[in-house]
Amino acid sequence: MIGKRKISIIGAGHVGESAAFIAALKGVAEEIVLIDIVPNLPQGKALDMMQTAPILGYDAQIIGSNSYDALKDSDIVIVTAGFPRKPGMSRDDLLGKNIPIMKEVAGHIKNHAPNSFVIIVANPLDAMSYACKKVTGFPDNRILGFAGVLDSARFSCFLSMETKVSTKDIYAMTLGSHGDDMVPLQSYSSVGGVPVNQVVAKDKLDAIIQRTRVGGGEIVKLLGTSAYWAPAAGSIMMAESILTDKKRILACHVLLHGEYGVKDLFVGVPIKIGKNGVEEIIEIKMDASDKALFQKSADHVKEICDAVDKLGLLK
Ligand code: APR
Repeated sequence: MIGKRKISIIGAGHVGESAAFIAALKGVAEEIVLIDIVPNLPQGKALDMMQTAPILGYDAQIIGSNSYDALKDSDIVIVTAGFPRKPGMSRDDLLGKNIPIMKEVAGHIKNHAPNSFVIIVANPLDAMSYACKKVTGFPDNRILGFAGVLDSARFSCFLSMETKVSTKDIYAMTLGSHGDDMVPLQSYSSVGGVPVNQVVAKDKLDAIIQRTRVGGGEIVKLLGTSAYWAPAAGSIMMAESILTDKKRILACHVLLHGEYGVKDLFVGVPIKIGKNGVEEIIEIKMDASDKALFQKSADHVKEICDAVDKLGLLK
């Protein structure tokens, strides 16, 4: 890519600041902008990270702003603006508070960065992606919900902890909604290339799959707020694949038009992600039980998107 690569991150809270830091450290963009509504917060965090540059040796320009004008010329906009979960809350409980934020934010993205790719991190992810599409009208290849990368990473992490094998040699895939009914796919997961069910005993594997499903909640219980390092790193992994045309195969939440038997919903599926954003939706074969779980997960996404419409949250 010629010229400066620019990533803007809306929401300079836990996820936003971590994403900015990871993007700088990894050198995936020359310009990183943090935007928040809280006065001075993004400016302070950006300045702190700029002062870290001489120590860690990165050279991105990191800028903080309270103005959406700063979105101009962004290649990628990452949306982390919104409330995180508190203990006892489901992601869906955030709907009423976070959809209005997405409505506002997406309007600004449309006005100030009309050619950008949007990566959505804020929850409830599936509904936030739906709202972003409705407000911006951006083409399907330019709106990507991120959580499949996170859910797959959690599955990988737990498999690594169980097998004591490096995560580098573990491949794990989790599809469906970003909720407790997500679908960790054991048939597409492996340890050193060996199918996971040949390496991990059934009872242990079932426990790992269940722990993956509620992996976000486990962190909320520990921290009193939701996870941020893995969500931040996952969103930057996606941004990097777009900016450097890596063509990774990653589980992302994209708008489906009949793939996997699902229409007009953002659901987590494997995609090829490169300079055109969503370059290919990959349809893998699932056995009957995974198919049923995937359908249940997609039904849940439909319910929450219907709730957005019914409550008139985008009007
Ligand atoms: N425009 C810009 N920033 C906003 C807006 C807005 N309209 N509304 C809220 N924010 C900012 C808040 O001021 C806050 O700084 O979003 C930031 C959110 O930060 P945190 O409260 O630390 O939340 P975080 O842990 O980063 O999670 C953000 O990502 O993973 C998801 O579930 C999580 O929905 C949550 C989101």
